[in-house]
Amino acid sequence: MRTLADLSDVSGKRVLVRVDFNVPLDGDGNVTDDTRIRAALPTITWLRERGARVILVSHLGRPKGEVKPEFSLKPAALRLAHLLDAPVQLAPAVVGPEVEAEANGLADGEVLLLENVRYEPGETKNDPGLAKQLAALADVYVNDAFGAAHRAHASTEGVAHLVPEKAAGLLLQREVETLKGILADPARPLVAIVGGAKVTDKIGVIDRFLEVADAVLIGGAMCFPFFKAQGHAVGASLCEEEGIEPAQRALAAGGDKLKLPVDLKLGREFSADTETRDLDGLEVPDGWMGLDVGPKTAALYAELIRPAGTVFWNGPMGAFELEPFSAGTRDVALAVADCPGTTVVGGGDSVAAVAKFELEDRITHVSTGGGASLELIEGRALPGVEALT
Ligand code: 3PG
Repeated sequence: MRTLADLSDVSGKRVLVRVDFNVPLDGDGNVTDDTRIRAALPTITWLRERGARVILVSHLGRPKGEVKPEFSLKPAALRLAHLLDAPVQLAPAVVGPEVEAEANGLADGEVLLLENVRYEPGETKNDPGLAKQLAALADVYVNDAFGAAHRAHASTEGVAHLVPEKAAGLLLQREVETLKGILADPARPLVAIVGGAKVTDKIGVIDRFLEVADAVLIGGAMCFPFFKAQGHAVGASLCEEEGIEPAQRALAAGGDKLKLPVDLKLGREFSADTETRDLDGLEVPDGWMGLDVGPKTAALYAELIRPAGTVFWNGPMGAFELEPFSAGTRDVALAVADCPGTTVVGGGDSVAAVAKFELEDRITHVSTGGGASLELIEGRALPGVEALT
């Protein structure tokens, strides 16, 4: 993978930078979490300081090839301008003569943000025509959009083959090196914490960690397919039926490494003011659903996490967004923060949990990629990364 250090002098050159500004917005169109914008600053600053003319391209949401104002990158442009303390011009479209004129009119160090690249139907189809139009805007292509690196789209893959020079940005480089490092040469013990709703979303990661990790701790609603496979009653818990068969296989392959909860916090329904109950054991009665791991599980997991040499965490332990069911995720997050080893958190919900408990500064690496980090851990090639070799 080529990096910024491999580029020739970028001064005066038009550099197209694929960033992942797919950030959450509130009802008034304000950015509610600018983590991904802040994560792109080192690359943007590196280029500006060297006199590059920076043209940023990103998607936001899934407008499905249509121009929809609620998916405009305007809020991201405003936020970026504030963070850079410099003007950021928002282009009227993704490509076309007007955009080309704006790109060609940039002075050294200036920044232009193209409109949402998914306004173009060719983006998700990796259309060569769109890739060519994007390439025409630039002398150099830099991909810093780790969160979108698992997508083979025109702005993440196709364009990379059509520009004279290309490289990974600083964020993409750090993400790939950190995540690959966990698998290649981890300080031991290596503990993986895998939570969330669905086994089928994460089975590739569970399988991989059952090969390389010393312990794999399972939490969240994805426990229930495991419990059902073991013959336990799951009551009204969210239990993905298609997850039962892969869970069964993981149970057979996992042996002692695979750890499951031993107690649960139950609720009548998925709500913060529902009736709750602690279950010391796993037989969930009818009319109740498991919404968090119990205190014994959280303590057992924390005991494994704290002395670890390396921790990877993806997916919460329960419905942490509801106060009565937040303790399991909070205790795990605190244990990860206390761990003096290398700690990596990836995936929207676990990253949100770390932010909610204000622990970001105590984690070695908070990944900006959800799907991308999972695919990398699974050992799958990321098209956006492959295209940079
Ligand atoms: C993400 O939020 O995971 C990335 O920005 C990719 O978005 P996508 O799943 O819509 O491709």
